[in-house]
Amino acid sequence: MDEVVLRAIAPGDVDALQELVESDPGYTERITGYPPGASDAQSLLMMRPEGLPEESKVVLGAFAADRLVAVVDVLRGFPNDHTAFIGLLEVHAKYQGLGCGGTTYGLVERYVGSTWREIRTLRLAVVDTNAQVATGFWERQGFEPTGEERPYRYDKLESVARLYEKPLPQESGS
Ligand SMILES: CC(C)(COP(=O)(O)OP(=O)(O)OC[C@H]1O[C@@H](n2cnc3c(N)ncnc32)[C@H](O)[C@@H]1OP(=O)(O)O)[C@@H](O)C(=O)NCCC(=O)NCCS
Repeated sequence: MDEVVLRAIAPGDVDALQELVESDPGYTERITGYPPGASDAQSLLMMRPEGLPEESKVVLGAFAADRLVAVVDVLRGFPNDHTAFIGLLEVHAKYQGLGCGGTTYGLVERYVGSTWREIRTLRLAVVDTNAQVATGFWERQGFEPTGEERPYRYDKLESVARLYEKPLPQESGS
């Protein structure tokens, strides 16, 4: 695999992002009950929790030789000033199981640690219907369950979202 570079998703990346989402219909089905829809990439770029300023959400792409291999969205200061929340990390189906997810997560950790200096903790939720795919991966990245859980609902799909956190490694020399 070529070197992986992380940068913000630009308007010109939307088609590649939509293709990535559609490459793994199983993920969308597990968390929505439906296959991917035609505007999922646009929704991923636009949706954010109520009250969170637009500039506090970033959608980053991991690119290998200019191909979008993974996407991650991160909310700065959610749900509190010292926490950043990872909404989604998805690797293109063709590249899953090759180390891309781990590499992308490592780059995200460095991005957050060096760009958002007030952030001390990374937080995310794993939905029970996707637990078999996601839990082992996040634990491998150093996340631990907080013990908090929330009812999760998407239209007819009802499940439970379990919260995980990881303290952000402190940047040295600053
Ligand atoms: C979850 C996901 C991001 C993992 O990405 P990936 O590129 O396939 O994972 P990697 O190959 O980088 O694996 C990194 C490490 O996690 C481990 N791992 C991955 N999935 C695992 C699982 N389900 N259980 C246990 N360990 C797992 C790998 O063995 C690897 O371990 P290593 O560091 O010892 O080699 C990817 O499967 C995906 O995009 N799934 C669909 C979207 C999704 O569910 N995202 C998470 C919810 S936000």
